[in-house]
Parts: sequence; C-alpha cells; structure tokens
Amino acid sequence: MHRLAVEVEGLEYRYEGAQQPVFSGFSTIVEAGDKVAIVGANGAGKTTLLRCLAGAALGGLAPTRGTVRWSENADIGTMAQDVHPDFDSDDTLTEWIGRYTKAGDDDQMVRGVLGRLLFSGDDVRKPVRVLSGGEKHRMSFGRLMLGRHNVLMLDEPTNHLDMESIESLQLALEKFAGSLFLVSHDRQFVDSVATRVIEVRAGGVIVDYRGDYERYLASQGIE
Ligand SMILES: Nc1ncnc2c1ncn2[C@@H]1O[C@H](COP(=O)(O)OP(=O)(O)OP(=O)(O)O)[C@@H](O)[C@H]1O
Ligand SMILES: [Mg+2]
Repeated sequence: MHRLAVEVEGLEYRYEGAQQPVFSGFSTIVEAGDKVAIVGANGAGKTTLLRCLAGAALGGLAPTRGTVRWSENADIGTMAQDVHPDFDSDDTLTEWIGRYTKAGDDDQMVRGVLGRLLFSGDDVRKPVRVLSGGEKHRMSFGRLMLGRHNVLMLDEPTNHLDMESIESLQLALEKFAGSLFLVSHDRQFVDSVATRVIEVRAGGVIVDYRGDYERYLASQGIE
C-alpha cells in the first residue's frame, strides 16, 4: 500500500480584488516519494499553487476554497522563487547556516555542508548579503540539507545556477527519498527528476498527469 503525502480537494486561489481565481476545483492525491513537476507558462499560477500547497504556516497562502491535508509526519522544506529576502542579514555564511542546525550538528558538520556547497576558506566569513544570486541559491540548498525534510517544495531552483550546480542538484533530487514538488522551466531537469507532471494553464485549469515529463509531452502531441 502506498503512503499518502498530501490530499488536495477542490483547491481554489483568488487574489484579493481579482476578478477570476488563478485556479479552482483542483483535486489530487500525492503519495510519499512522488516527484511532481509543476509546469506552465509565466503567470499561469505555479508559484501560487506551490504556496497554497505549502500553506500559510510556511509563509504560503491560505486557499480561498478547498483543503490541503498533509500526512501527519510530513516535514516540509521550501525554497521560494526569490530567495533574496532570506539574505538581508549581516550574518556570515557560517552564522547564517548555523541557524538551521539541529541538535547534534557540530561545527565540523556545518563546515562539511558549506564545503559541499563549494564554500570554503575565507568565503565562510563573508556576510551573506554580498553573495551572488547563484551563491544565495546554493546556501538555500544547504539550509534544506540541514533540515532533513521528507517533503521539498522548490520554486525554479535552477535559476541562477551554473551547469555544475544544476547537475549536482539533479543528482541530489534523484536520490532524495521524500516527496518533491518542483516548479521548473528547465525541460531536461524536469525530465530527469519528475515522476509526475501537474500543468497549470492560463484560465485556471490544472492538468494532473501521472507519468514523467517526456510521456506527458507526448500525450500533448509535443515530441
Ligand atoms: N499578490 C498578488 N496579487 C494579485 N495578483 C497576483 C499576486 N501574485 C501573483 N498574482 C497574479 O497571479 C497569477 C499567477 O502568478 P504566479 O506567480 O503564481 O505565476 P507563475 O506561474 O509562478 O509565473 P512565473 O513562471 O513567472 O514564475 C499572475 O497573473 C500574477 O500576476
Ligand atoms: Mg513563479
């Protein structure tokens, strides 16, 4: 029997003052370990959907209709499309990442995580606010690594990343045993990681496809 990660029923989100909801009537079931790609054009509503799934408790949105029910043991880690607000701080890299350690994580472990993110030596004493866009994204992955979440929600995580960093993220996500919700416009990346596709279409229709991205495109007549 498959374990349920989240059950979504009749989900709708309408921004205050907007004439139309971004989407409505969306229901789905996601099983633990599913890797869901959320795709669609700019402005279709991918970020809005992801934030509704995360829920208000995680800085997300409370749906205007419908419900999102997570399994009891779900431990959700999120990475926003824009990570810059998280780095408006005078903390050094070591101090910043140190805020996300758990009991038992020592300095060596923190240095190890920074090293895997390719930060070492004098780098770790820089204030986080001076980091480049790609470096901020790499630090955000470090925060998620320390969180040991069993659900990850990543909104366009490959933006700003160089090819080497995209490859290592791809490998990490392929190995990740938890559930994944991934918004991405990077077809190759989605192809290699996702086991399911949810497409948000303009006009508020959400298409839920149980199969990988390649098969999804074929089903839409796109090769
Ligand atoms: N705070 C807001 N108030 C009103 N409308 C909003 C708000 N935030 C987003 N929208 C609108 O909701 C729609 C969906 O936006 P959303 O950010 O979810 O799109 P997206 O699919 O993530 O796009 P992108 O690929 O550019 O990231 C857009 O038309 C956007 O203008
Ligand atoms: Mg978005």
